[in-house]
Amino acid sequence: MFPKYSILVLALSTVSVVSQAQENPWQVTFPEPKEGQYVHTPPTLEDLEASNLHPELKRVIRRGHDLFVNTQQLRGENVFNDMNCSSCHLGEGRLPFATPIWAAAVTLPDYRPKNDHVNNLEERIAGCFSYSMNGTPPEYGSDNMLALAAYHNWLAKGVPIYQPGNTLYGRGYPIEKPEREASWEKGADLYQVHCSLCHAEDGQGLKVRGEVQFPPLWGDDSYNWGAGISRVFTLAGFIHHNMPLGQPRSLSVQDSWDLAAYINRQERPQDPRYTGDVVETREKYLDTFHTHTQYGLEHQGQLLGDHENTGGKDFLKPEVLKPRTYR
Ligand code: HEC
Ligand code: HEC
Repeated sequence: MFPKYSILVLALSTVSVVSQAQENPWQVTFPEPKEGQYVHTPPTLEDLEASNLHPELKRVIRRGHDLFVNTQQLRGENVFNDMNCSSCHLGEGRLPFATPIWAAAVTLPDYRPKNDHVNNLEERIAGCFSYSMNGTPPEYGSDNMLALAAYHNWLAKGVPIYQPGNTLYGRGYPIEKPEREASWEKGADLYQVHCSLCHAEDGQGLKVRGEVQFPPLWGDDSYNWGAGISRVFTLAGFIHHNMPLGQPRSLSVQDSWDLAAYINRQERPQDPRYTGDVVETREKYLDTFHTHTQYGLEHQGQLLGDHENTGGKDFLKPEVLKPRTYR
């Protein structure tokens, strides 16, 4: 059996809506591992303190953890939306079926179709800065990049390196195909019932005294049109396993797809790969990406993503993509 997680760890940062879950923490049962899958339970910060790693290494890993759960401290520098890394990688990046980040540490360097070259861990982290955080990554080799990479590696402690990625239990946001085509109209109704309580009717989430309690799902402060989670199947997998917060796997596969089709049909900051023409951009990255998004498609008389808005950034086409080329 896979160890049970307490939802308590996830609920700590949120306001009273989930305080019941804190008083009565319910245990999450995860799907059974499939034959041959590698199961890893990442270590915690307490394990770090108790370990015999050098105090200086502990300090850097702790800093990486701090950046991961409070990435808003880099707001305006590397982050231009309301996200923390842990907004999508729940449980401090440790939770299975919420893209636990240790997997990247043991599968990279590897070839990535999205940017068509071999990526190392820093470049993979940079990718989430450019798209998911609608930001611009810290420099390769900088203190912050080193700290984040160290935290990823720490969570992978004990896992053999160069694991075949598809055998890692709980990696990514896996989900089956829906029975019928996803319906954004049905998703809109489901959204008001299951999600609007926290993420608000208009998808803008909730801030209390300037601090994000519930992150927005669309609009200027959300992930951009190039983010992995803007693909419908990826968001569907995220929702199925992780939302509503505290009720994992309570929504059916079909409901999760319907919700994803609705949410990923709302406007958000421009894809940083934008060529100046949304249809052209869609076409250029169709096979490796946009075939799974609704970017550049018509919705209620408008082409989705047909704007020059980059959200909270005050510059239009920033050099946010930092490919690390190999010659
Ligand atoms: C808006 C949601 C979101 C945010 C915020 C986000 N990510 Fe991600 N991240 C994703 C998605 C989606 C994937 C790809 C999952 C998949 O399809 O396997 C991913 C993948 C990753 C991976 C690779 C995991 C693997 O299995 O290989 C790493 C590492 C990672 N993210 C790190 C970060 C870091 C560091 C931050 C903060 C700087 C961050 N992410 C912020 C959504 C997000
Ligand atoms: C009880 C409050 C609550 C409910 C209900 C809820 N969420 Fe969330 N959601 C959160 C919190 C909090 C986070 C950020 C997690 C963190 O920081 O630990 C989040 C994160 C997310 C994210 C990733 C970050 C982002 O903003 O893009 C998505 C997508 C999401 N929720 C979708 C949904 C959907 C769809 C529903 C309805 C099925 C839903 N949520 C219901 C509280 C909630």
